[in-house]
Amino acid sequence: MTLPIAYEDAVDLLDADHKAVKKMFIDYNALCDDEAAVQAKRELAEKICQALTVHAQIEEEIFYPKVREAVGDDALVDEAEEEHAEAKAMIALIQEMDAGDDAYDATVKQLGEAIDHHVLEEREQMFLQARYAPLDLKTLAVPLFNRKNQLKKAAQARRKETT
Ligand SMILES: [Fe+2]
Ligand SMILES: [Fe+2]
Repeated sequence: MTLPIAYEDAVDLLDADHKAVKKMFIDYNALCDDEAAVQAKRELAEKICQALTVHAQIEEEIFYPKVREAVGDDALVDEAEEEHAEAKAMIALIQEMDAGDDAYDATVKQLGEAIDHHVLEEREQMFLQARYAPLDLKTLAVPLFNRKNQLKKAAQARRKETT
């Protein structure tokens, strides 16, 4: 089956998100090194938070339940969900913080490290197990893609309302 989207399958789509977020964290570090303006850092941090929120939501709503069912390893999915909860707490903290706060950069970097760890586990454990499970990863990419676009549009609309 040829998918009407630019991804091989569900894992490919999710890992493309991981790479995009990693790039944004690297850019954030570069802004810190360059002593960039607070506003530029705040905008990028907000983009990171938004991308991670959407990514976590499509995994929790669509991907994780399918993996839980097909792989049958509840502990693996439970741990991933716990890590999402921890990341969400950090995201909420960043969104409430003043970007000029002394601890702001450190909190964004701490989120980046937590995400690095989480992504590594997804890649080396969950995605690998999903590939060997009776799971149609190609077909699963479509609802992930559609839900991601829907959530992104909703988040953008909310941002416009507040700015
Ligand atoms: Fe995840
Ligand atoms: Fe992920």
